[in-house]
Amino acid sequence: MTTAGLKSAPGGALRGTVRAPGDKSISHRSMILGALASGTTTIEGLLEGDDVLATARAMQAFGARVEKEGVGRWRVEGKGGFSEPSDVIDCGNAGTGVRLIMGAAAGFAMCSTFTGDASLRGRPMGRVLDPLARMGATWFGRDKGRLPLTLKGGALRGLVYTLPMASAQVKSAVLLAGLHAEGGVEVIEPEATRDHTERMLRAFGAEVLVEDKNGVRHVRLPEGQKLKGTHVQVPGDPSSAAFPLVAALIVPGSEVTVEGVMLNVLRTGLFTTLQEMGADLTISNVRVESGEDVGDITARHSQLKGVVVPPERAPAMIDEYPILAVAAAFADGPTVMRGIGEMRVKESDRIALTAAGLQACGVMVEEEPEGMTVVGTKGGNHPVRGGGKVITHGDHRIAMSHLILGLAAQEPVEIDEPGMIATSFPGFVSLMTGLGGSIVEA
Ligand code: S3P
Repeated sequence: MTTAGLKSAPGGALRGTVRAPGDKSISHRSMILGALASGTTTIEGLLEGDDVLATARAMQAFGARVEKEGVGRWRVEGKGGFSEPSDVIDCGNAGTGVRLIMGAAAGFAMCSTFTGDASLRGRPMGRVLDPLARMGATWFGRDKGRLPLTLKGGALRGLVYTLPMASAQVKSAVLLAGLHAEGGVEVIEPEATRDHTERMLRAFGAEVLVEDKNGVRHVRLPEGQKLKGTHVQVPGDPSSAAFPLVAALIVPGSEVTVEGVMLNVLRTGLFTTLQEMGADLTISNVRVESGEDVGDITARHSQLKGVVVPPERAPAMIDEYPILAVAAAFADGPTVMRGIGEMRVKESDRIALTAAGLQACGVMVEEEPEGMTVVGTKGGNHPVRGGGKVITHGDHRIAMSHLILGLAAQEPVEIDEPGMIATSFPGFVSLMTGLGGSIVEA
């Protein structure tokens, strides 16, 4: 891991065509479902970031054979279930990894102990442990279910569970536990969240019934589903594509195309919002790959204007608010983001760190308990100064967002802990420098 910081500096236009790295959500799920299934799962385009590699190691610890066959090409030999791991499972920085794996592990009569890095050990696991406990799993851990914790599963009862917060991770944990619960499970989602688990369960042969009742999604997994290994083509991650695309929007003269970006509507809230801000974004070559819509997105430098982001859009762009806030700093007029309290329990408190990082770069931001407003350039009278030294608290998206800001600000921007970028976007620096951006060791 690099110990020096990184510094991005304003320079010329960004130009070129790149591929987004594999989607993180789908990459985790392909490993976990592959391990739970019987037979061979082949994966192409896997995100080989630290988070997903931790999940791959965990699947080995639970008894699957996991092999890398080439760049992004992996083979998982599943045993049709998990066996008890002989050591502690370290999920690194990955909330998705640990929460989904705990759900999957709860279905089996065994003990497993989970831990992670300092950030993951500080994040709430009660949201997953509560429904798993209602199904009959038991656990013993730190205060409020913080890691490290030990989970004992097996002999689960069915559950009808209304999500108390919009979380695809919680939904997924309940569904994965439901694979081995008497009577199956139903998850009720007042706000729709990313549906990759439902789609992938079907691709592995399970029956998943989804019904919309007055705008509320009911996701039902009937008892006794068996998973069979399959092929998974991982599409490009819209959450990662966001960084070069926003960079092109804010650096004058730029035109950047990102190919193969997943366009699942439960993930594309950022692109909708940017278009409402006046962004010149064009989507072409739309096709379907492994059950997901995929397309190429071209962004050209645009004069953006501030908008009010509808709070109900939050689940479709929850990881993208830090980079949206960067775009908003270059927009004319305020951008209001509300209903985003979940951001406070991500890899860091992302509302606090986005506000602090932007303020360190001379951007006016008003922080609220569940939101923030970025004031914008006031018709060019308040240009983005940059020049900040941004503390990331080991959060990859905070690091990348502020490096993007530095490419378009008046003065360079420095971040600490660049090694964490590899959790979700291992080739970020070379991809951005390949487009013409200046990012160097600080
Ligand atoms: C994810 C769901 C989201 C998101 C995370 C990935 C997933 O978390 O922030 O990066 O793959 O299910 P929540 O479900 O906690 O909102």
